[in-house]
Amino acid sequence: MIDYRVRDLPDLSALGQLRQAAWGGHDDGSAWSRILEHSLTWITAFDGTELVGFVNVAWDGGVHAFLLDTTVHPGWARRGIGTELVRRAAAAAREHGGLEWLHVDYEPHLSGFYELCGFTPTPAGLLRLDRFFWLPFPPVPSPPGYHLAHDRRTEKALRGRQTGQGRRCAGHVRLDCPAL
Ligand SMILES: CC(C)(COP(=O)(O)OP(=O)(O)OC[C@H]1O[C@@H](n2cnc3c(N)ncnc32)[C@H](O)[C@@H]1OP(=O)(O)O)[C@@H](O)C(=O)NCCC(=O)NCCS
Repeated sequence: MIDYRVRDLPDLSALGQLRQAAWGGHDDGSAWSRILEHSLTWITAFDGTELVGFVNVAWDGGVHAFLLDTTVHPGWARRGIGTELVRRAAAAAREHGGLEWLHVDYEPHLSGFYELCGFTPTPAGLLRLDRFFWLPFPPVPSPPGYHLAHDRRTEKALRGRQTGQGRRCAGHVRLDCPAL
C-alpha cells in the first residue's frame, strides 16, 4: 500500500536518487532544500520506507500555482501513483485557498496522463533562461555557448534550439471549482 504525505520533508538524498532513477542525470539531492523552501506544497509517495513518488507545487503568491517535477520511480510505474500524486497536489493547492489555476507543462507523450489528471491542454510558451537572450541593438559578441538574438528573424531561428528538449505542451486546471 502506498502512503502519500503532504509537505513532509523527505530525506533529500533519497529524493535525489528517485529523480535520478526517473529522469536520468545526476542529482545528489542537495538542491532540494532550497527549492522546497519556495514551494507552496509538495507530495511524496512511500512504499514502506522507500520514496517512490514526488511532485512539487510552486506558487506566484497570487492565484497561480505550477505543478513541477512529477516523478514516479520506474519500478513503481503504471500503478496509478503519478495520477494520485497530481490529484493530491491539486487538492492541497485548492485547500490552501485563494488559488484559481494550476498550470503544468509536459512532453507531448504525457498529454493523456495530464488529461486523466483533469488538466485541459492550453497553448503556452517556454523560454530557456540559461541559454537564450534577446537583446536590442547594438549587437555584442556572444559568449561561448550562448545565443544572442538581435532581431526577430534571428530570434525565431534560435527559438527551436532554446529548450534543447524538443516540443513541450501545457495544460491547466481550475482550482476554484468543485474537487477533481
Ligand atoms: C509520468 C509519470 C509521472 C507517470 O507516473 P505513473 O505512476 O506511471 O502514472 P499512472 O500510473 O498514474 O498513469 C496513468 C495513465 O497515464 C498514462 N501514462 C502514464 N505514464 C505514461 C507515459 N510514460 N507515457 C504515456 N502515457 C503515460 C497512461 O494512460 C496511464 O494509464 P495506463 O497505465 O492504464 O496505461 C512517470 O512515468 C515518471 O515519473 N516519468 C519520468 C519523469 C517525467 O517525465 N515526469 C513528467 C514531468 S511533466
